Amino acid sequence: MDSTMNEGNNSFPVDRPVEALLRDHQMVRTLVESYRNTDSDQVKINAAEQILMLLETHSLLEEGVFYPGVRDVNPEMIDHFEQEHQKTDEMLAELKRISLSDPQAFTIFEQVVEATLHHIEEEENEFFPQLEQANMDMTPLGLQMQAHEANLAHIQAQANQQGARR
Ligand SMILES: [Fe+2]
Ligand SMILES: [Fe+2]
Repeated sequence: MDSTMNEGNNSFPVDRPVEALLRDHQMVRTLVESYRNTDSDQVKINAAEQILMLLETHSLLEEGVFYPGVRDVNPEMIDHFEQEHQKTDEMLAELKRISLSDPQAFTIFEQVVEATLHHIEEEENEFFPQLEQANMDMTPLGLQMQAHEANLAHIQAQANQQGARR
């Protein structure tokens, strides 16, 4: 396949799927910056909502497709990452029970942000170089990840439509 066909903004880099993960990580960092560098509650809440949405899709992609596909490179490290996801999921479940404008939500959200920044650093600095070294053909996994993302986007669009109708 001609790789230039895949270079549009929303395209998935099927032969370099780690780039899609890095793109998400970078977006999280940018959103965290906007969250931290504003005094406006509304801007904070908007940034927080976007971070939460992104974390949800990113975690599903890693847990459902990426981690299983690369587990053999370093099973202990993947276990560790899955545990970190689980801890964050517990905080997110807690957050979902309260409103984002609740003062307590702010504290939990800060913990989610700290844990997430630490987690993505670990993925990038400790795991991705090992994966690079392993020299796997990433395209089969990239195709699965692309399909997973497309499917998730479809489900979310449906959920949003239903939400709008309520
Ligand atoms: Fe992760
Ligand atoms: Fe990640």
